[in-house]
Amino acid sequence: MRGNLENLASLHADKHHVFVKGDIGDSGLLASLLATHQPRAVLNFAAESHVDRSIHGPEDFIQTNIVGTFRLLEEVRAYWSQLEGDAKQVFRFLHVSTDEVYGSLGKEDPTFTETNRYEPNSPYSASKAASDHLVRAYHHTYGLPVLTTHCSNNYGPYHFPEKLIPLMIVNALAGKPLPVYGDGQQIRDWLYVKDHCSAIRRVLEAGKAGEVYNVGGWNEKPNIDIVNTVCALLDELQPRGDGQHYREQITYVKDRLGHDRRYAIDASKIEHELGWKPAETFETGIRKTVQWYLANPEWVAHVQSGAYREWTNKQYAYEHKSVKPQEAAA
Ligand code: TYD
Repeated sequence: MRGNLENLASLHADKHHVFVKGDIGDSGLLASLLATHQPRAVLNFAAESHVDRSIHGPEDFIQTNIVGTFRLLEEVRAYWSQLEGDAKQVFRFLHVSTDEVYGSLGKEDPTFTETNRYEPNSPYSASKAASDHLVRAYHHTYGLPVLTTHCSNNYGPYHFPEKLIPLMIVNALAGKPLPVYGDGQQIRDWLYVKDHCSAIRRVLEAGKAGEVYNVGGWNEKPNIDIVNTVCALLDELQPRGDGQHYREQITYVKDRLGHDRRYAIDASKIEHELGWKPAETFETGIRKTVQWYLANPEWVAHVQSGAYREWTNKQYAYEHKSVKPQEAAA
């Protein structure tokens, strides 16, 4: 559980915001929250989402992503069934999924569309795929008005530093190695987090029940380019004290097991049908992101708790010993 209450600090005074700490698998709690708040939509962002953690311990991913989504669907179905008139008509269940359920692309393959077949490769993506199938089944079987979105890799402020971009920023500033898996040529399609939020808002407001929408940034980049961009921005915004470049901290490490080579989203459906496009380019988004981390050292210090240190020790000290790029890729 890496949720962080500090991320919600700006909402403290907002009377429309209520925070309840609970488990997505707790049916009783879900039922009472639905009965109390009578929502007109439920958005399911809840997920264990880190591939490396799913490789070390898949069980949490099965519980939260599959069993949790099932419990939520059951309670939402019971709540929605007893709604009447307009309230029933306008209700939506929006399920936030990932592009990783579509598997890995070759260099020349076309980008993922909504009709790509499912080929999940990690325990994480397999658990998300299972939850997507449950969501789909609740629409076809019970008529629950669901919407599903598949998003590419997000980045931006408040990103937990277990994922590539925030990990590189915090490690660079701490003078630590920047661990690049394998040959660093894996490709991801990066989307600024606020653009992901605006896409979800748009799908909620205008998406057709039962439909699936892919959300991407049209920003395919190899990991090593991402790391070099982060280093160059840090060189500009907060140069190292010793006059060296941050890129000198780059360390090639052993590759992730079953590492997917490329993800890339075709986001034309959401653009043509709902008029959504990302507002940020990678250049504007990554600059804002690096600036945010530089401006928020206390946030970074707080999230690097004992549990965080335990994870990074386990992930980077034992399994991913530093290797030469050619060995790393093998
Ligand atoms: P990540 O942020 O974990 O997202 P995902 O696995 O969902 O795409 O990783 C993004 C890419 O960066 C992925 O190809 C793995 C790679 N990576 C590294 O090279 N080093 C790291 O320390 C991490 C966390 C990821």
